[in-house]
Amino acid sequence: MKLLTIETTCDETAAAVIDERLAVLGAALASQDALHERFRGVVPEIASRAHVERILPVIDEALRKAGIGVGEVNAVAVANTPGLAGSLLVGLSAAKAIAVALEIPLVAVNHVQAHIYACRLTYGEEVFPCVGLVVSGGHTNLYRCAGPLDFELLGGTIDDAAGEAFDKVAAMLGLDYPGGPAIERAAKNGNPRAYRFPRSFLNEPNRLAFSFSGLKTAVRYQIAGPGSSGEIVPPGDPQIRADLAASFQQAVVDVLAAKSLDALRQTGFSSLCVGGGVAANRALRERLGEIAAAESFRLYLAPPQLCTDNAVMGAIAIERLRAGLTEPLELDITPGLVRPLSPFAPRK
Ligand code: KG4
Ligand code: ZN
Repeated sequence: MKLLTIETTCDETAAAVIDERLAVLGAALASQDALHERFRGVVPEIASRAHVERILPVIDEALRKAGIGVGEVNAVAVANTPGLAGSLLVGLSAAKAIAVALEIPLVAVNHVQAHIYACRLTYGEEVFPCVGLVVSGGHTNLYRCAGPLDFELLGGTIDDAAGEAFDKVAAMLGLDYPGGPAIERAAKNGNPRAYRFPRSFLNEPNRLAFSFSGLKTAVRYQIAGPGSSGEIVPPGDPQIRADLAASFQQAVVDVLAAKSLDALRQTGFSSLCVGGGVAANRALRERLGEIAAAESFRLYLAPPQLCTDNAVMGAIAIERLRAGLTEPLELDITPGLVRPLSPFAPRK
């Protein structure tokens, strides 16, 4: 069994070949960071055009690495939700073309669930049941994951995603794009207690919701003065930038750690799986490690290379194939995250 997985939900064009035992036979990825850097954020039209140029070479590279021809692929999976409409359509069109040409099953992948599945791939079946925390550029969500396909949304952000806040604060500080790794680097030389930034909903333990927009505004006012709007000039002093980066990062980490613990208590589960681009952040990983030891829960962090978008985590499609969940060729994209996640639970 050779499954080809395709990922084009945002600005990464990726493909992988996975076998029925979840072994990764080949994987390829083309990053668009250089194209979006000067806009300091993903420009949807540029992203979809770049996917069109890259999708076939990336699929070819994954197949070449796996040492197989396209004719040897037995099923094709594609992330069709959530994501940018134009980006999703490129991956879906490629997947449908392959499914039609080879007369093989088409499998739908939920990108957010796939981020959690990166932990299953790494640590095995023991990760379930778990609380799943997905922290990325587009999502900050907590899930009750009873099994690999059984996800229930517990709460999410009411405004910005955590990664989005990292990217916007990095821009205010004049740091590189993408902002997450740049903030992490700058924060190494900074004092996380230099500035006291807000931690939204922290004192409402039963509320599994996040908000990072106020934090972002607090950083802005700290740099440019209360009530400022429009362009801001990043602080010239590298120590001030480092202190701002470290204090901002600490505020995000504190909230993510506290809410994950709340979700564990609410569900009664004793495992936490964490995935998505922000899960690569070392300060977050260390903090979660500390509270896992103190509170005696099992912590499964996706390895850093599987935190940011990739096609390997599309291996979740193997679970759907095992459950007989293939899709008709009418399969469409769903750019927004459907709440609750019932459409993605196994169909009876
Ligand atoms: O999962 P991902 O690749 O794409 C989405 O599905 O959104 O996540 C990208 C996000 C970006 O906002 C990026 O700044 C953030 O993940 N990120 C990080 C780190 N590496 C990537 N945030 C904090 N620390 C990092 N080391
Ligand atoms: Zn993602």
